[in-house]
Amino acid sequence: MTRPKIVAGNWKMNKTAEEAKALTADVINLSRAELKGKAKLILCVPFPFLMQTRAQTDGSAVGVGAQNCSEHDSGAYTGEVSATMLKSAGIPYVILGHSERRQYFGENGPLLAKKVDKVLATGLTPIFCCGEPLEIREKGTHETLVKEQVQQSLFHLSADDLKKVIIAYEPVWAIGTGKTASSQQAQEMHAVIRKHIAGKYGDAVAQSIPILYGGSVKPDNAKELFACQDVDGGLVGGASLKARDFIDIAKGAE
Ligand code: 13P
Repeated sequence: MTRPKIVAGNWKMNKTAEEAKALTADVINLSRAELKGKAKLILCVPFPFLMQTRAQTDGSAVGVGAQNCSEHDSGAYTGEVSATMLKSAGIPYVILGHSERRQYFGENGPLLAKKVDKVLATGLTPIFCCGEPLEIREKGTHETLVKEQVQQSLFHLSADDLKKVIIAYEPVWAIGTGKTASSQQAQEMHAVIRKHIAGKYGDAVAQSIPILYGGSVKPDNAKELFACQDVDGGLVGGASLKARDFIDIAKGAE
């Protein structure tokens, strides 16, 4: 089965409003001029820029996503943003469970299961992140941990709901370090995740789910990573902050 390729940029906590506007414009222009439209591009931008990025991307093929949202519907949760708010602002995607959220903000499997539920119930598409830290990779228990992360936050879903999820495998040791997983390491883990899903939901469901790779994806390694059988594109951090690099990475998915 051929799954669509997806290349999503995670801007994290970077850029001012003006810089965000310029970067978005450059991405739209370069993608129109240079890409064949075979890969879906998504920009996951900081909350304050969502509306302007959405307005800029209206009428283009570039999608917009948030980087997190609350597990609650509404109410006295100062500083939080709900899935309903994102939906009402016309934002279709949201990253959930990024390793930086797990590490610095104490997000864990059960909490993320609630966020996934909220996002799906609202009709948005979650980009659910999983991935092991360095010490777990060195111990050799990375497969167990990643399977657990997927199981804890996604395996309560119906098959129909699971099919709406995009998964991103992001080994923590490869994030922002310049140290990419080799294409073989990425393929191995993506296959482990897909097989785990197949074990519970069957092969057809597992084969339909896009699994993106994240962790130091750059223009010079994107093509090889995205060529792996179970790698359906990328979730790009640092290199998504430069339109030229982001577009060159997207070319690797075409
Ligand atoms: P880098 O591409 O900067 O390594 O970040 C990856 C990431 O965390 C994307 O979500």
